[in-house]
Amino acid sequence: MNIVFAASEAAPYMKTGGLGDVAQALPLALSKYSGSRVLLFIPFYGSIKRDPAFKTELVSEFELKLGWRGQYAGLHRLVSRRRKLEVYFIDNELYFCRDRAYGYSDDGERFAFFSKAILQSLVILGEKPDIIHCNDWQTALIPTFLHAFYHDKLGTAKTVFTIHNIEYQGWVHPYFLGDVLGLPVSYDSTFKFGDQHNFMKSAILKCDALTTVSRTYAKEICYPYYAHGLHDIINDHAFKLTGIVNGIDTDVNDPATDPNVFHPYDVSNVFEEKPKNKADLQKELGLPIRPDVPLIGIVSRLVEHKGMSILCESLEKIASMDVQFAVLGTGDSEYESWLKSEAERHPDRFSVNIRFGKHLASRIYAGADIYIMPSKSEPCGLSQLLAMHYGTVPVVHETGGLKDTVAPFFPDTGEGTGFVFRGFTGPDMMDSLRSAVDLYNGDRDSWNKLVMNCMTKDVSWKLPAGEYMELYRRITNKK
Ligand code: GLC
Repeated sequence: MNIVFAASEAAPYMKTGGLGDVAQALPLALSKYSGSRVLLFIPFYGSIKRDPAFKTELVSEFELKLGWRGQYAGLHRLVSRRRKLEVYFIDNELYFCRDRAYGYSDDGERFAFFSKAILQSLVILGEKPDIIHCNDWQTALIPTFLHAFYHDKLGTAKTVFTIHNIEYQGWVHPYFLGDVLGLPVSYDSTFKFGDQHNFMKSAILKCDALTTVSRTYAKEICYPYYAHGLHDIINDHAFKLTGIVNGIDTDVNDPATDPNVFHPYDVSNVFEEKPKNKADLQKELGLPIRPDVPLIGIVSRLVEHKGMSILCESLEKIASMDVQFAVLGTGDSEYESWLKSEAERHPDRFSVNIRFGKHLASRIYAGADIYIMPSKSEPCGLSQLLAMHYGTVPVVHETGGLKDTVAPFFPDTGEGTGFVFRGFTGPDMMDSLRSAVDLYNGDRDSWNKLVMNCMTKDVSWKLPAGEYMELYRRITNKK
């Protein structure tokens, strides 16, 4: 099968969040496990252009029509030895050579350009894809563009639209329809949402299959609490909606080979090596080196929907327990200062690191005993998967992908991979966290069984890639 994967970011070229990880690992897994040919398209951001690590070649240059505009488009390809996975970059310096990937007033136009340029590039390359897999609002225009402008050339392609986060939908003024998208007024109802136009709505209507990144989130987005206004549209199209839980790239994220983990380990020596990583982490963070104190970690954006309100209001309670707590991340200044002041009050308990760093992130996954993830909502979540793979026990709010990937642990049966709390409140979270700490302190055999359950859980892309392939086969009627 020929698959095109379109995303606004993909690691290692550009990453601002989980989408970047998925767009790196899923295309690779699809090509690896199914033997499909996969073409990945992302914008040629300035940072990628300037990075000598990424060798690219110019494939084509063309003018792309966006309403009345004629814009330069460059098509570049990564020079690579991978036969089954080709990476393409869409170039336009005006749109993509900026400080950040998103957050500009013309984002709508930038990603309309990107989406249409992908389809034009496929025509230029003479490709006949079976599947065009679009992700989030930035590539949500592809199904409509395909329908309106490329039907004769690429008409056999089926589109999949994956929602990684329904909060960001791509809102524009209705003038955009003719002025930028160059679409006739007959498409007005495809986009119209209140008195604005909405990219994500158009994709939900026009795609052949709609997916999101966990089964529970697929159910949740049918309700107003989670859908950010789109619940009715989702409900109308629920017949084509499925949830497929993300995986992680277990080749790259492996405690046995991760270069940032000083004492590599796997299931055979986790109980000898993980404590050494813990001691090193305590040293690095300036925390007392105590082997038996439960060390809780979190690597997260420090924002409301990641559960920072209930976490921050519980900090004094956490400080009153005999635990250590390591935080890594940036976000809203309110939560940053709340965490920092707590760390000043309890320097022997808290280490708050307001930055992002892959190296320290790996060492927290490897060195901590417990990983806390109190997200208010979580489409899938990748950190809990990383934590489990590194033998660090997750404590999570029962929502979205957290519910689908972390099963409550029962010491009697020895089954389960973590601790799950139902109500989104500080006290509920603290109950779960206390249960984790009590088990760690009081029943080391059960704890070690739990760690083993985490590490042996299959969190790779193998199963999800298979589910995507099944979906692709279903909508294309191909083998
Ligand atoms: C978004 C979601 C996150 C998900 C990721 C990849 O970042 O918030 O839950 O894991 O996308 O799908």
